[in-house]
Amino acid sequence: MASMIEDAINGFYLGDDKLKELTSLMEAEFEKGLCKETNDKAEIKMLPAYVTETPNGKEEGDFLALDLGGTNFRVLLVKIDKGEVQMFNQVYAVSKELMTGTGVQLFDHLTECLWDFLVQHDMMCQLLPIGFTFSFPTKQYGIKKTTLVRWTKGYTATGVVGEDIGELLNTAINKKFKIRCMNFDLKIMSTVVNDTVGTMVSCAFDYPKTCMGLIVGTGTNMCYMEAQEKIKTLEENEVTPGKEMCINTEWGAFGNNSGALNAVITEFDKSVDEDSPNQGQQIYEKMISGMYMGELVRRVVVKLMDAGLMFVGTTSDSILYTSGLSTAFVSQVLSYDYNQSDFDLLKNYISGFGAVATNEDCVVLKRICEAVSLRAADLCAVGVVATAKRVVANRGNVQVIVGVDGSVYRRHPTFKDLLVKKTMQLAPDIDIRFELSTDGSGRGAALVAAVESRIHKLQLK
Ligand code: BGC
Repeated sequence: MASMIEDAINGFYLGDDKLKELTSLMEAEFEKGLCKETNDKAEIKMLPAYVTETPNGKEEGDFLALDLGGTNFRVLLVKIDKGEVQMFNQVYAVSKELMTGTGVQLFDHLTECLWDFLVQHDMMCQLLPIGFTFSFPTKQYGIKKTTLVRWTKGYTATGVVGEDIGELLNTAINKKFKIRCMNFDLKIMSTVVNDTVGTMVSCAFDYPKTCMGLIVGTGTNMCYMEAQEKIKTLEENEVTPGKEMCINTEWGAFGNNSGALNAVITEFDKSVDEDSPNQGQQIYEKMISGMYMGELVRRVVVKLMDAGLMFVGTTSDSILYTSGLSTAFVSQVLSYDYNQSDFDLLKNYISGFGAVATNEDCVVLKRICEAVSLRAADLCAVGVVATAKRVVANRGNVQVIVGVDGSVYRRHPTFKDLLVKKTMQLAPDIDIRFELSTDGSGRGAALVAAVESRIHKLQLK
């Protein structure tokens, strides 16, 4: 029976050979996504983000940023003056009803929040350029038009997939503001930005060598600067030879239909996927990101509990049975050590979930959390290396700075170190540095709008 515990845990350990194989498979999927003929069928969409430059320090002015990507919506006012950035922001909740209701309700709510923010800052009826971080897979048609490819992270609001996000926002703003402002004339330039892009751009403001943007939070994704000639999905007139463009990889979809991850997928991954609202999608994301990490741990625990191998004496009304576990649970468990006083603390923590634990249970629970976390970091390193290889192929063997953000990267006690270590092991020849990005979805999005304004003004001259 002890072997059931070992089998469950060992299923999460992937050797370096396997990780290297996965890196090659991911590189091949990147290539498919960039190629016009294969993009349709490619699982990693490699979406051109139409951001062709990172900040050069000459950006100036006041900008608004909106940030939607999880359970919160943020509105920010960002003032950039001589390289100094000042920010004011307000967080608004997005209820489950709004996430799963209609698109009209959702965008009306976003506009209501924007209005509230403008009232607070005495800026009613006066709209500045907006950088809108919309952290879902989108397809961009030039800098102006961005449509939603599919919802992720629990959102299902109707009437949004396939629609132009900027347009939905502008319509909602027009509707609300026209009633409240006399002669309101919407002349804003809103740029829809993926959170990875904001993360990269915000980090590039501080570290100009930044050319990749990574998020490991509720979801996971990566963007990077690609040579425009290699983005075969662009129209000929969109390509300037020698210039780069940011690609939003949407790597979370790796393994959706290529079978690339089949050899490493466990029964727990399968059941998490089957019970998710987007079954069969975001397979790689479900093995890495914060939305699923606690749930994976819970499913292993439940299997061992059902087999009478863990938390014996726990009744079926325990929270472990009745509701999901968050990544915060995993982080908490990992913050305890393997010693008696920490076991006592851990037992107490577990009792809050209605479960009865022994010392042995504490050891097993910690090992499960370690295994799930290590696998998440290992798989993420695979993606980082696959992406960095593309950068090096374009720019030569220069230092690659990855701007990073996300709750798992920031708050999980071991993820960051495991990721850095594995990345170095998988790519010893590439100088990859991770830098925490300052508020990519807020400051970054405003900076994207600022860079756009700068380029636009230059073009008008
Ligand atoms: C979305 C990406 C986003 C990532 C991180 C994923 O679920 O598809 O667009 O960048 O989460 O927030």
